[in-house]
Amino acid sequence: MAITAAITAVEGYLPDYVLTNQELSQMVETSDEWITSRTGINERRILKGKEKGASVMAIEAVNGLCKKRGISPEEIDLLIVATVTGDYIFPATANIVCDKVGAKNAWSFDVNAACSGFIYALTTGAQFIQTGAHKKVVVVGVDKMSSIIDYNDRTTCVIFGDGAGAVLLEPNTEGLGIIDFKHQVDGGGRVHLYQKAGGSVKPPSIESVEKKEHFVYQEGQAVFKVAVKQMADVSYEVMKRNNLTADDIAWLVPHQANKRIIEAVAKRMDLPESKVMLNIHKYGNTTSGTIPLCLWDYQKQLKKGDNLILSAFGGGFTWGAIYLKWAINN
Ligand code: UT7
Repeated sequence: MAITAAITAVEGYLPDYVLTNQELSQMVETSDEWITSRTGINERRILKGKEKGASVMAIEAVNGLCKKRGISPEEIDLLIVATVTGDYIFPATANIVCDKVGAKNAWSFDVNAACSGFIYALTTGAQFIQTGAHKKVVVVGVDKMSSIIDYNDRTTCVIFGDGAGAVLLEPNTEGLGIIDFKHQVDGGGRVHLYQKAGGSVKPPSIESVEKKEHFVYQEGQAVFKVAVKQMADVSYEVMKRNNLTADDIAWLVPHQANKRIIEAVAKRMDLPESKVMLNIHKYGNTTSGTIPLCLWDYQKQLKKGDNLILSAFGGGFTWGAIYLKWAINN
């Protein structure tokens, strides 16, 4: 049988500090009622402490992952980190993670696809397993969104949080693991959700700092409309082309950007709420972290052979869906 890439372990890491809707209501003009009804978020985690980058959370997740699977980090062949808030513009955060966890035999790189980063990275990692090039690939989704959020801007500060999730991919010959994917991009959408300065178009300057151009800029409604359509369409398409009905699907694992977007995707797929992973109320939108953190939260309920659809939409615009068969019993 052909080799497929299967997830054989999942781990997550969330910083201790809980930023509640209540606390945010004292920082900006907002309310628990507005945030809960418009987004589904009750609280989010924030990584506190000086000079602590996204790698701090990724390292915790990868160390936990290796421990859980009972492997040494030296066995990792490739480590991919999906993030938009890497420790530095360069080098890649993945390199720092490899160094700090002792993944001495791995090569590594970062993937920048905003909220679709984890699914893009998962598909990329899977290719190296399927071709037989590698035996152990670690895929991390991590973001320290608090480092690029303006806590005076109520339209963005209520949404995002910090967190990391990691999975291990290994070869499978039972037909389990990643079966299909579809990823898309529309660079024209970049103007609706991005960080205006800090890159080579506008390197940091006094002016860029004064204009708050190092923070997330988002036109919420414009993004919302496209997110609902594209995430629903691509999830439905992956479901249909694999001849899956709603009954065949055990779980939808959606990117956690807004509860209303998730509900629209589930509706299009005709899935009941009970089959939809949801943790946005606890962590908000952790960008690259949302999907592995869902798998981590729900792992006890997953059974070998379960059909999962992973689905995301994010800045870029980027979007896509993955069909996988869960390969382990927890
Ligand atoms: O994860 C990657 C991709 N990102 C997304 O998928 C995010 C997609 N967008 C969204 O989830 C939603 O558009 C938001 C949650 C960002 C905003 O919700 P909305 O229902 O689209 O609100 P809106 O932007 O249309 O704003 C409605 C009103 C405005 O007031 P006026 O102009 O009607 O007086 C806003 O100023 O709500 C106001 N508002 C707030 N009020 C209280 C915006 N943010 C807040 C807030 N608290 N935090």
